[in-house]
Amino acid sequence: VSSFKDHFADIALNQALWNSWTPHHVDSTFYDTASVIDGRDTIDNVMSGMVGDVSGKRLLHVMCHFGHDTISLTRRGAQATGVDFSEVAIAAARELATKCAVDTEFVCADVYAMPEQFTGAFDCVMTSHGVLGWLPDITGWANAVARCLAPGGQFHIAEVHPVIQVFDESAPEGVLRKGYPYWHASAPIEAVEEGTYAVPAAPTSGQARYWNHALSEIVTALLGAGLRVTALEEHSKLPWPVFPWMVRGDDGWWRLPHGAPDLPVMFSLSASR
Ligand SMILES: C[S@@+](CC[C@H](N)C(=O)[O-])C[C@H]1O[C@@H](n2cnc3c(N)ncnc32)[C@H](O)[C@@H]1O
Repeated sequence: VSSFKDHFADIALNQALWNSWTPHHVDSTFYDTASVIDGRDTIDNVMSGMVGDVSGKRLLHVMCHFGHDTISLTRRGAQATGVDFSEVAIAAARELATKCAVDTEFVCADVYAMPEQFTGAFDCVMTSHGVLGWLPDITGWANAVARCLAPGGQFHIAEVHPVIQVFDESAPEGVLRKGYPYWHASAPIEAVEEGTYAVPAAPTSGQARYWNHALSEIVTALLGAGLRVTALEEHSKLPWPVFPWMVRGDDGWWRLPHGAPDLPVMFSLSASR
């Protein structure tokens, strides 16, 4: 088991990558920021069902990117704060909040170094979609998340399923070929990313470091941090395609095509302190 303290250089590479990706995301079709300014709510119905009525709640959105979900939760009445380690993303989030005329707070910090004033400060902490793979230390992450919750506070996550993350996304169409470890390994998966997942043609190239975390490792880390898991679901749908040959339904969710192995592509979990 590795500590985040052994991975500051890897985290710095990821931070540089996110700083270079974010300007391309702000104006992308993928993120469609104009519609958020016009009032679009970006919280998907799985997360929506978990967080319930957030009005009046002190809410922390962990790894908030440039703030779409954080701003949506503010509009739902939460006192929302977004945290992210990319200063470019946090600057873009603040600018977006101004354009949306909402009072959302954004703080630039690494998840492993969330500020002291977050301790016990939130009724709800949530995070979703494309977050855990950037983290070298799932135990440190769970401890950091739990520390931010007030007693009785709720934590919610919706994320790509670690089982589907083992398959090589560059394999031929329809082929599930193992490419990555299922259980956590301290050594990161090293990649050079050309373009970004949201803007593949973006003229940017950078080093990325990824880690997979088994479902049992995620749950065990949260239990070890003193949280009580109250719900855990595995889903056959995801808001984005892990493989280019996934199929988008009329509901906007992506699924493996008919005839593919029946595997979960997303999990969602709620826990309380
Ligand atoms: C895929 S995005 C999350 C996307 C978000 N669900 C959305 O739809 O906008 C992942 C975010 O995690 C942030 N991030 C990655 N590693 C981090 C770390 N160690 N601490 C804080 N933020 C981190 C990145 O800057 C990026 O904004």
